[in-house]
Amino acid sequence: MITLQPGEITVGGVDLRNHLILAAGVLGTTGASLKRILKLGAGGVVTKSIGPEPASGHHGPCLIRTDCGVLNAMGLPNPSQEFTGEIESLKDEPVIVSIFGKDPDEFREVAGWFAGHARGFELNVSCPHAAGYGAAIGTDPETVLECTRAVATHGVPVWVKLTPNVTDITTIGRAAEQGGASAIVAVNTVRGMRISTEMRRPVLGNRSGGLSGRAIFPIAVKAVWDLYETCQIPIIGCGGVSSANDVIEMMMAGAQAVEIGTAVMDDIRVFDQIRRKLYTKDGTPAEEIVGVAHG
Ligand SMILES: Cc1cc2nc3c(=O)[nH]c(=O)nc-3n(C[C@H](O)[C@H](O)[C@H](O)COP(=O)(O)O)c2cc1C
Repeated sequence: MITLQPGEITVGGVDLRNHLILAAGVLGTTGASLKRILKLGAGGVVTKSIGPEPASGHHGPCLIRTDCGVLNAMGLPNPSQEFTGEIESLKDEPVIVSIFGKDPDEFREVAGWFAGHARGFELNVSCPHAAGYGAAIGTDPETVLECTRAVATHGVPVWVKLTPNVTDITTIGRAAEQGGASAIVAVNTVRGMRISTEMRRPVLGNRSGGLSGRAIFPIAVKAVWDLYETCQIPIIGCGGVSSANDVIEMMMAGAQAVEIGTAVMDDIRVFDQIRRKLYTKDGTPAEEIVGVAHG
């Protein structure tokens, strides 16, 4: 297997300890859990998405296991502004704060609460199960551009996380780029649903949700590939990554770093396990791998 040179990196304006980042919403719900994941080998962490009002999310079941993945409809539960208290002690750590809002003003307001603490922002314009938020606005290029521009006014690097549930993801990627994004994260979960044949009803409380984990890896690789062909800013691959080889594959498609979510729920030691296989002293410089499959 190809290995990489170890060492700190900078991606999308954010200094990271390595190429492996905790994805939003998975264990990143408290300062203590974010600290723990960093200690366990993550190069950076993205928080749970924080919005303009406290919310308890959808009623359950909110998460079920499916073949090769997880289907969730959490509904963006979050403590809103109170979350600033959770990350105050993480000022010197590579913490990216994920935020959401229904329009540019809400995005700007939420970002303002964290501007002194976050190394970067990740805009959630991609959650597939929150009415009026996430993918509800992230499928419109003009809105994505305006929300990105609004958050960029804080002078903190802005990553924009895209939904795969669109006909052409590059249109949205270009809009983020034009709005001043420092990087694009691809992708959030893929819309999905299961029905209980016993109950004759959808299994999730919200009826439908978003699929993550191994099952969506090829979808994420293709999204990264398409964005690499179209956009100039760095891309961070996300979706189904669970091994060192997956990281290399994402990089060959065009990603400069990866985010890992569902695999962390399966095994909290995944960052260290991947790190041990991914890095060797005589490894290849990452810049020789990124996008190499495009020929
Ligand atoms: C339980 C759960 C909660 C999530 N919460 C968020 C969230 O708050 N904000 C967000 O942008 N993405 C959220 N996601 C999406 C993940 O960050 C990631 O984009 C997706 O799961 C694909 O990556 P994975 O296959 O490595 O999990 C969540 C995913 C799961 C499984």
